[in-house]
Amino acid sequence: MAGQEIVSTEPATGAVLWRRGPSDVDAEVERARASWAEWAARPHAYRVETLRRFANVVRSKTDAFADLIARETGKPLWEARTEVETVINKVDISINAYSERTGQRRSEGAMGARTALRHKPHGVLAVLGPYNFPAHLPNGHIVPALLAGNAVVFKPSEKTPATGEFLVECYHAAGVPDGCVRLVIGGPDEGKALAAHDGIDGLLFTGSARTGLALNRAFADKPEKILALEMGGNNPIVVWDTPDLYSAAVLVVQSAFTTAGQRCTAARRLIVDEKLYEPLLAEVTKLANRLIIGDPHADPQPFMGPVIDNDTADMLTESFLALSAMGGRPLRYMERPIEGRPFLTPGIVDMTEAKERPDVELFGPVLQVIRATDFDEAIAEANATRYGLSASLISQDPALYDRFWANIRAGIVNWNKPTNGASSAAPFGGIGWSGNHRPSAYYAADYCAYPVASNEADQARAAIGIGLKDA
Ligand code: NAD
Ligand code: SIN
Repeated sequence: MAGQEIVSTEPATGAVLWRRGPSDVDAEVERARASWAEWAARPHAYRVETLRRFANVVRSKTDAFADLIARETGKPLWEARTEVETVINKVDISINAYSERTGQRRSEGAMGARTALRHKPHGVLAVLGPYNFPAHLPNGHIVPALLAGNAVVFKPSEKTPATGEFLVECYHAAGVPDGCVRLVIGGPDEGKALAAHDGIDGLLFTGSARTGLALNRAFADKPEKILALEMGGNNPIVVWDTPDLYSAAVLVVQSAFTTAGQRCTAARRLIVDEKLYEPLLAEVTKLANRLIIGDPHADPQPFMGPVIDNDTADMLTESFLALSAMGGRPLRYMERPIEGRPFLTPGIVDMTEAKERPDVELFGPVLQVIRATDFDEAIAEANATRYGLSASLISQDPALYDRFWANIRAGIVNWNKPTNGASSAAPFGGIGWSGNHRPSAYYAADYCAYPVASNEADQARAAIGIGLKDA
């Protein structure tokens, strides 16, 4: 029975952007299986060349690609352009990462013997992508996977299939064989079918903890398959002993509200020294009031667009009310300025006196504030989460940063910088419910190939020196 048609709608306008029926998962996996060995057998230099061509193809289509990402996600055009730039830059970064982390090493021993370390691709890797960075994040798995010699079956989010299709067309236009990157259109059902398929050798996932945990369970009896999970966060930003409260407020606002809060590394919790609370929150709310929220193509450009769809906006406004009902004190109400469309104004709520503080990721422009009276208490608050993706300290005191760095539980720990804006040239991953210790970005090379160690000699010259009877 044919599955449900996937319809992509522009969040800002409600216009239908793209529609297509779901893919045949079996057929796509079979096609990839039939193609990967030939790609893997090509010299590494050939794959490098092909992916450099891919970067050029994307560069030549920057305007169209950014326009599509902005339409499909609702993020502002300026931001969609930075996403395209990141897709392009990923190629050179991955080439360096491949040779640094999974290249070849040889150490020579006595009499022509040597020990060699080389890496092999897994085979066919499935990639499941999220909607917030529909090109950059899947590309962050796909480029290293292809470089290492794998074929890829990629299912973009059902909320951003058009961007996924565009990305796949760019690989093909650059000369990556059609069979080596296959596109699966579909939603969670197709995602489940792909994850469960015997024909894949691994799964590279970026998305919510809920889906990641389900995949982890589904792979529990498949130790032979690689599973890389990049999941969400409930990230803290701590403000302590800092003289420049305007800059602190800017860093808080950038951390919490960039991309309308739809970043896995967005700050969800602001933990602030009781003494700085009043002046800092005055600056933060003043800035939040000034943010332009609008259509991704508007002129002047907005700071942030809508969230991905009306259901998400409803869930976020309801969650904001629920936080208030738990005893949170709203400092800035979250509003829906345009009836029927998922634009949201930033919501800020003081949860210090709340009966409970749910440890969930609210993937949108909601910031919870907690006052603390000493720095140890602030660190304990920051660590009061099952997640562990990113954390940031805003402070002029290096000794506080040393304490923060040593005690905070997160894969990304920043100082006087936002919680978001991670570099592709560094490893990217979290602990707890944020990942499964297979970080992506620069370390994606590690999960795209497995090491093979070999003791080698050109000739079979051997003798047993001890423990032999005379002949
Ligand atoms: P999601 O988990 O809903 O979906 C991600 C992908 O998984 C989609 O392609 C979806 O169709 C598929 N899927 C959903 N349910 C599935 C199932 N049961 N089995 C198999 N596949 C399934 O995530 P989303 O809402 O698209 O993205 C937002 C989430 O992604 C947020 O939680 C965010 O924090 C996280 N994220 C994490 C990172 C990171 O690198 N750590 C980066 C960006 C986003
Ligand atoms: C994300 O991948 O959602 C965020 C990356 C970042 O901005 O740090």
